Amino acid sequence: TVYPVILAGGKGTRLWPLSRADKPKQFLPMHGEHSLFQRTVQRHQGMDGIGRPIIVCGDNDRFQVDDGLVGIGVSDATVIVEPSSRNTAPAIAAAAEMLLRDDPEAILFVLPSDHLVGTDESYFKAVEAAIAAARAGKMVTFGVLPTHPETGYGYIKAGASEDLVRPVEMFVEKPPAGDAVRMVADGSYYWNAGFFAFSARALLDELKAYVPDVVDAAASAVNGATVVPGTVTLAAAAWKAAPDISIDYALFERTDKAVVAPISCRWSDVGSWHSYWDSLEKDDSGNAVRGKAVTLETKDSLIVSQRAEVVALGLEKIAIIAAEDAILVCPLDRSQDVKDVVSMLKEKA
Ligand code: GDD
Ligand code: MG
Repeated sequence: TVYPVILAGGKGTRLWPLSRADKPKQFLPMHGEHSLFQRTVQRHQGMDGIGRPIIVCGDNDRFQVDDGLVGIGVSDATVIVEPSSRNTAPAIAAAAEMLLRDDPEAILFVLPSDHLVGTDESYFKAVEAAIAAARAGKMVTFGVLPTHPETGYGYIKAGASEDLVRPVEMFVEKPPAGDAVRMVADGSYYWNAGFFAFSARALLDELKAYVPDVVDAAASAVNGATVVPGTVTLAAAAWKAAPDISIDYALFERTDKAVVAPISCRWSDVGSWHSYWDSLEKDDSGNAVRGKAVTLETKDSLIVSQRAEVVALGLEKIAIIAAEDAILVCPLDRSQDVKDVVSMLKEKA
């Protein structure tokens, strides 16, 4: 069985002031009625051979996860609760350990909970090919064609092949800017979409070779877990021993079993106000407006208001985000720096 393993422990700090510590972006209805988390759960429902969703999240987020699941009528999910956040490698290892207990053939289809993905037929073909490769013991990544030298992504050099799944020659996580420019210009690199597929058994064997502490901590945290129907709360003391490391550094930069399934559908990690603006419908002047707001002689801007009437006059490439209790105004190009604002506010508090 193929289990969607949905990682819902991220903080989404660059989407301040809408995304907050107690309500990170994956739980916000940023693209219509449903949150990105809910849309992720719905994306693969009904696919052939797909099992119940597994959600991995922090203690703070478990009730939003439950609410989100109830909101879309999903009642068979298992929620794995992390007593503290240890990054994606331990989160995925814990899901693999748990699934192996009753399904030795389990395949994990790991999905970020905070991405906007426009599926089409070619996407599902890629997923099918990826799952076949995962059954054969490969560590599968999904590749998106890069559009600019983003340094916040992983870069995958794919071997020559016309197959739906291609060998990975090199994986570089979050390269320095100069390397990103070179790799985008080179043309043989993909961005790592952040979705993965592998068999639980093969994944744990491979992790054991590179980060044995991650596997040991995940196994003891699952062994000592508190289980009630639908929820597995990992044992806190054992979990604390897990190193804080992402799956990209722990596994994909090192393994020689990696392959990549390219996807060509609409993909956005909605990582900043700029990419949120990118992901929305725009008016003729390139403005994206959500909530009560009016634009006059304004171009290529993002205006979001949760309550106040916002009027933008004579602006270009500006983000105005008016939340209930805080307002951000900045050039869209400075979206990446919003996380520094959040740290600054935290220090001040
Ligand atoms: N449960 C859990 N626990 N989930 C987590 C944790 C954790 O400790 N940390 C992060 N996540 C979730 C996030 O909510 C997100 O859905 C996903 O795991 C990926 O984590 P990010 O923190 O968003 O990673 P990133 O954006 O820096 O980089 C990853 O994604 C890029 C594409 O968006 C990497 O895989 C890059 O290589 C990739 O290009
Ligand atoms: Mg991300």
